[in-house]
Amino acid sequence: MAVNPEETDLNKKHIVTLNEKEPLAISTKDLHVYYGKFEAIKGVSLEFEKNKITSLIGPSGSAKSTYLRSLNRMNDEISSAKVTGEILYKNVNINDPEVDVYTTRKQIGMVFQSPNPFSKSIYENIAFGLKRHGVKGKETLDKAVETSLKQAALWDQVKDKLNQSALALSGGQQQRLCIARAIALKPEILLLDEPASALDPISTSQVEETLIELKENYTIIIVTHNMQQASRISDRTAFFYLGHVLEYDETRKIFTNPTIQATEDYVSGHYG
Ligand SMILES: Nc1ncnc2c1ncn2[C@@H]1O[C@H](COP(=O)(O)OP(=O)(O)O)[C@@H](O)[C@H]1O
Ligand SMILES: [Mg+2]
Repeated sequence: MAVNPEETDLNKKHIVTLNEKEPLAISTKDLHVYYGKFEAIKGVSLEFEKNKITSLIGPSGSAKSTYLRSLNRMNDEISSAKVTGEILYKNVNINDPEVDVYTTRKQIGMVFQSPNPFSKSIYENIAFGLKRHGVKGKETLDKAVETSLKQAALWDQVKDKLNQSALALSGGQQQRLCIARAIALKPEILLLDEPASALDPISTSQVEETLIELKENYTIIIVTHNMQQASRISDRTAFFYLGHVLEYDETRKIFTNPTIQATEDYVSGHYG
């Protein structure tokens, strides 16, 4: 596939404005991310609607993870990374260094590619973050642990062994525990970076079902390299290519009738 985003008109048109009636959860305006001198994200403006699942797709190295990490200031942890442009959340530019990262990450939670539960009990994996955020009292914590495990579709499988190590769970269960841990803090937005890539097909479909259920209460942005997954679960899909977003639309449109050839080549697997 030969696409030079610098030469396409799309490059100039990738400010995507969705139906104005839909309330937005978060958006970026002219976002650039640099690692030292290397510009990984070259001015991405996207809007994400509330209570929708949006997939970020594109070849490896197209900067999907970099973009996702920007949304809750996770790139702050990478010393060479510099992020410019605006990230608007509740009318505040959370890319402003004055904005508290800790609070931002409570409201915009993240689940990573490989399940990374703490080496603690199942119960403590969830209670730990809550306690750090000032939640007190056994009854309150018990209730929060139960609710988030139920939301992550894991409660029935673990309710009788809450004090056992989380590391003894299967990969799929560990990933759902990580989702439970993230939602226990009651974020509004959940970012997931290839959350099912390390999982078998059954665990993958359980995670997908969990996400579809969570959509009622959360806005979900997910990076996936699995095209079936993107088309199964997401409402909207953004196609990333070399640090640009070449196309962003309803998932159905992206997969059945994309506007540009590069998207079609990628979603149909013809990409080399
Ligand atoms: N910590 C980092 N330091 C330097 N370059 C990085 C770092 N993380 C990613 N990159 C570079 O940024 C580009 C986008 O990477 P990434 O966001 O991981 O892409 P994707 O998730 O689409 O595979 C790649 O060229 C990658 O090598
Ligand atoms: Mg990635």
